Amino acid sequence: MRKNEILKLLADFIAIESVSTDKNRASAMGQAGEFLVHTLTHMGFEVTAHRIADAPPFIIGAYRVAEAYETMGIYGHYDVQPEDPVDAWHSPPFTLTRRDGKLYGRGVADDKGHIIQNIVALQQLIETKKLNKNIVCFFEGEEESGNKHLNDFLALDEARVLREPDVWLVTDMGASGSGEPQIWNGLRGIVYFEITIETSNKDAHSGIYGNRVHNPAQLLCDLFARMKDANSGVVRIPHFYDDIIFLTPTEYASLLTQSDSDASLRARSGAHVLPITWGPFPGAPADIPLALTSKLLPSLDIHGVWGGYMQDGVKTIIPARASAKFSCRIVAGQKPENIARLVHNFVSAHIPPGVSIKLTQKEGSEAFYTAVDNLWTKRIAGALEHTFNTPVRYNRSGGSIPAAQAFQQKFSKPVILTGFTLPDDNIHAPNENYDEKMFWKGIEALELIYTS
Ligand code: BES
Ligand code: MN
Ligand code: MN
Repeated sequence: MRKNEILKLLADFIAIESVSTDKNRASAMGQAGEFLVHTLTHMGFEVTAHRIADAPPFIIGAYRVAEAYETMGIYGHYDVQPEDPVDAWHSPPFTLTRRDGKLYGRGVADDKGHIIQNIVALQQLIETKKLNKNIVCFFEGEEESGNKHLNDFLALDEARVLREPDVWLVTDMGASGSGEPQIWNGLRGIVYFEITIETSNKDAHSGIYGNRVHNPAQLLCDLFARMKDANSGVVRIPHFYDDIIFLTPTEYASLLTQSDSDASLRARSGAHVLPITWGPFPGAPADIPLALTSKLLPSLDIHGVWGGYMQDGVKTIIPARASAKFSCRIVAGQKPENIARLVHNFVSAHIPPGVSIKLTQKEGSEAFYTAVDNLWTKRIAGALEHTFNTPVRYNRSGGSIPAAQAFQQKFSKPVILTGFTLPDDNIHAPNENYDEKMFWKGIEALELIYTS
């Protein structure tokens, strides 16, 4: 395929506003699914789109070259994170834009660019008759909103084709800052919550009722202040760290040698300042570098807090209710359902009796850990090393991809996580981008992976 054809394909995909968490974009989710069905069918794949409940379509595409060949599974997610804050983008989020050697657009790095790279690599191998593996593609659209229906879908007979692959390749991650390819052997799991505290059936004058009634916003702030120490990052929920299995000394030593410097951590995160002291975290070395705390330890973060008067100007009320979204990232040994129970107990114990609390657990997924000493990892690492002409790094990430753990558990086949974006790709943030050199190089690497 010519470069401009490939960029056109990517641009058409980016233009579909497939924000899975946005109920108003349900039709865009369908369109993105259709786009993939159409593209894969055109390439000669046998394609099926499956709908369960209100989930975006699960797309399965199979290209069987010969029965004797090995089968590779390819995973990608076609949903993207919300584009807000739109004003912070330098070009429209859903218009693929080339600027300074980078491709900009919502989802370009996470994960539409990777899906297109896989498709283009396959297309080129099919065209030149070089493809020597059977391929099963699985593309889904609810990764960015927690994969509520994934496990139900995997249990269905319609998903049986997904048992065919001898290995799963998940290209939803990135390379190192200097562009060295990486294979990721660990991801954290996540448990996501929403909470609403309601103390009254209406807002009240704060002068008349202050001191006399509970303030839900105050209760919410107080609750979060008790849940986690803001300066050290240590979560104060009893038993939160009880089950964690810290990694082996050998792997820890290897991660220590490649942990981000404070300067690059600041630059990449955009943080004005970094914490000066952190921890000690139960179960972890007291001198763990800041940069490793998100890869190796569980955490708790608030994503949004709202309630009361939030417009311009002055309004003196005691609001009736206050709400927040927050989540816990979890590591090896921790079970989403146990963490959910600890959080529920903690909240009930800290809110005055009679105050109404609505705490819902939205999604939960376990952490993902995998061995790297298997044949498939070696082969794929070999192909990456050949293309990039540099050793592969083995790394862990604090992020989550629920499908990785689900596949490993259900199919008992190697699951290999890699990808070609750079750490300054701004995923989930304004000006998401994919370095163009890495984009083209990644296609090359994938072609080699599918044929080695
Ligand atoms: N592709 C990311 C995961 C990732 C992790 C990318 C580390 C690069 C480095 C994935 O799309 C993601 O963002 N997952 C969500 C899952 C959540 C919404 C349940 C996450 O980790 O926040
Ligand atoms: Mn992703
Ligand atoms: Mn993401």
